[in-house]
Amino acid sequence: MSAQQPHAIYLEDYQPPAWRVERTALRFELEEEQALVRAQLSISINPEAGSRQALELLGDDEIELQRLSIDGEVLCASDYARADGRLVIPNVPDSFTLECVTRLLPQQNTALEGLYKSDGMFCTQCEAEGFRRITFFPDRPDVMSVFTTTLVADKTRYPVLLSNGNPVASGDADGGRHWVTWEDPWPKPSYLFALVAGDLALVEDHYTTASGREVALRIYAERKDLDKLDHAMVSLKNAMRWDEQVYGREYDLDIYMIVAVDFFNMGAMENKGLNIFNTSCVLAHPQTTTDAAFQRVEAVVAHEYFHNWSGNRVTCRDWFQLSLKEGFTVFRDAEFSADMNSRTVKRIEDVTLLRTAQFAEDAGPMAHPVRPESYIEISNFYTLTVYEKGAEVVRMLHTLLGPELFRKGSDLYFERHDGQAVTTDDFVRAMEDVSGRDLSQFRRWYSQAGTPRLNVSDQYDAETGCYELHVSQSCPPSPGQEHKLPYHLPLAMGLLADDGTELCSRVLELTEEEQVFRFEGIPSRPVPSLLRGFSAPVKLDYAYTDQQLLMLLRHDTDGFNRWDAGQRLSVRLLQQQTEAWCRGEPMQCEQALVDAWRGLLRDENLDPAMVAQLLRLPSEAQLSELADEIDVIAIHEAREFMRTALARALESEWLAVYQRCDAASGTYSPDAASIGLRSLKNLALEYLIATGREPWLELARQQFEQSDNMTDQQAALSLVVHSGFREVGAELLEAFYLQWQHESLVMNQWLAIQASDSAPGALERVVSLSRHPMFDMRNPNKLRALIGGFCGQNLVQFHAEDGSGYTWLADWILKLDRQNPQVAARLLTPLTRWKRYEPVRRALMRDQLQRMMDTAELSADVYEVVSKSLV
Ligand code: PHE
Ligand code: ZN
Repeated sequence: MSAQQPHAIYLEDYQPPAWRVERTALRFELEEEQALVRAQLSISINPEAGSRQALELLGDDEIELQRLSIDGEVLCASDYARADGRLVIPNVPDSFTLECVTRLLPQQNTALEGLYKSDGMFCTQCEAEGFRRITFFPDRPDVMSVFTTTLVADKTRYPVLLSNGNPVASGDADGGRHWVTWEDPWPKPSYLFALVAGDLALVEDHYTTASGREVALRIYAERKDLDKLDHAMVSLKNAMRWDEQVYGREYDLDIYMIVAVDFFNMGAMENKGLNIFNTSCVLAHPQTTTDAAFQRVEAVVAHEYFHNWSGNRVTCRDWFQLSLKEGFTVFRDAEFSADMNSRTVKRIEDVTLLRTAQFAEDAGPMAHPVRPESYIEISNFYTLTVYEKGAEVVRMLHTLLGPELFRKGSDLYFERHDGQAVTTDDFVRAMEDVSGRDLSQFRRWYSQAGTPRLNVSDQYDAETGCYELHVSQSCPPSPGQEHKLPYHLPLAMGLLADDGTELCSRVLELTEEEQVFRFEGIPSRPVPSLLRGFSAPVKLDYAYTDQQLLMLLRHDTDGFNRWDAGQRLSVRLLQQQTEAWCRGEPMQCEQALVDAWRGLLRDENLDPAMVAQLLRLPSEAQLSELADEIDVIAIHEAREFMRTALARALESEWLAVYQRCDAASGTYSPDAASIGLRSLKNLALEYLIATGREPWLELARQQFEQSDNMTDQQAALSLVVHSGFREVGAELLEAFYLQWQHESLVMNQWLAIQASDSAPGALERVVSLSRHPMFDMRNPNKLRALIGGFCGQNLVQFHAEDGSGYTWLADWILKLDRQNPQVAARLLTPLTRWKRYEPVRRALMRDQLQRMMDTAELSADVYEVVSKSLV
């Protein structure tokens, strides 16, 4: 633990900044052993602050302060105080220039926050609180400043020197060095500052904005990856066009740059004019990148681009408002992806993530509202709740207001708050002002944590033709919030007749704890299709019969709900098998399900992408989330049983579908239709392999050897490795390694596939992989592949009854915490869910959390997660 116990920060304590920084001029001398930073800040008193206060700047205790002066006068040690990440100067004029020289050691920065080196290039990561690791500054998002940055470095090692804005001057310096000065005309908070220095290659293109301005587009990467940048470039241009067309937003600088770095804690970062990306979210090439990764690149490129308005031009007042930019921007990128690809499939994928991981977060010890009330370490709040649930909240506003009013609200929000640092409340107020609606109850979505539950029952009166839906809502307690008030939410629904004809479709608005909705003139008892398109992030209970679900699966006009009906049925049948397994009774596979699936497999008119979604069983993680008490083994056994049963019962259909999709796919292209064909083909291959029969092993081997793209090759590899065909699996792994050992991202997949192999001996395998030259514990992508792959994807083995998986993870966390606290705290998540398991595992997991808690010197990041988990 740091010198003192880490302490919490509260939303209710917010105070406007006492000082403003109008201009910030930075000069970086980048060297092999160190970096020298000279910062000149034009500071003046903030007229909006309550009272005059001493100047307080934030700066990490690790950075060396070499010189400090005010208006040219050097301060001595007694003029200021430095402690606990702060520098306080009591006596300053109302307006002055502060100059500060700091010395940093970027080469030794393993936390990857602030200024650090990634594979020989210098780069920065300042969100949320990284700028204070570079220099002393009021490092908070409501202090916005105009930045000018000069970089000086060796010309041969670092020919490319980048920062935010536009380059305005450059030249050579002594000793083989050179310099470039960048000016960013747009005031921005320090978290959006960035620099990059390295020997980088680039692809270049340009874009003409709607109003006719020319923008240079540049994507930089290491030279070896130059052939993997085209997809990102196309995605960027599509995103720029989309934001003009759908939101009326244009880009506002002459250059837009993206840089790919291999060492990065998160996915990507929206620094003004200079996005920095994890290589995994920008590089794409058919031979080395899967379809899923192609789509992720498209989504993340768009996400970071969209931040230019929702995040940069209008930013957050404080970090409690993080969802202001993240929730809105995730909603924007989801809609973009939906427009570029299949809307229904995108929705299914997003809802699956929400239900699996966000619902689990909501039910765990770190549960927090979309706008948290307090935090110890803000890095721990870049969560599924803030991002994905936050996006669902924006989506509900879109549904409640309708697309036109929503667009008006977004226009008003951007216009009213351009250049400001604002709150989620300001966002909702703009929506209120354009619609004339009172959204005060709706605001509870921002302040209450937990997943609400809707209970729906119905009544039909054949004589009067009157049908009633009775809806009640509740929300379980979460840490610090015992009682919840009812939410305001849109419940999109329809009524179907027995033969599948739609009788009506509507969006109901829920505001009360209990409400009744009446429908007149209904000719016969209808089947309700509820929560269409997942119109609110809730759990919905309605006592569907199997027959009703099968009918909806066949006929619902809402594609999402067709899928959801199938999921409900699969979940129900899987839960029955889980119980049977626990009682030691034989498991069964329902014939009605087999028949329904056969119908879907034989129907050649259906969209392959959709069929692939319909025929995928809910994951073990999702079944775990739904369980009262998680029995990992029972869930695994039940799912394996069902998968094998469906594989064998429909073997000829799977083969026919495999062949049909294979014949239909031409040369590789990452468009939605081809992706759909490949996903159905590889799902069919999964079931064929699951039959356990040799001929299909040969089919997979052939696909592995002959495919021209990573999607098919990797699918074949992982299916064989995860099957009972151990020898062939090992053989393919070796071949894959020899083929791709020079491709770091492909090797991450190779690590992840092995880490998630649930066959006995898994822990020994991951331990030995952690010593493999392809693994590098300093690289977050490799940690996520190996440790995340084992603890998050290999549930049976991570939860081995002897607790060995838990000890292994805790050992890693303790080791990583000294190196990279952010990543350590994230990898810890699986252990935080200990209360959800049966007593034996629960105790073993808790023991490891306690062991970490008892360790001296935990980072604030890990301390927060561990201490809250133990409550
Ligand atoms: N703001 C980034 C995004 O979502 C995520 C991020 C957070 C990256 C913190 C790095 C550090 O777009
Ligand atoms: Zn974001």
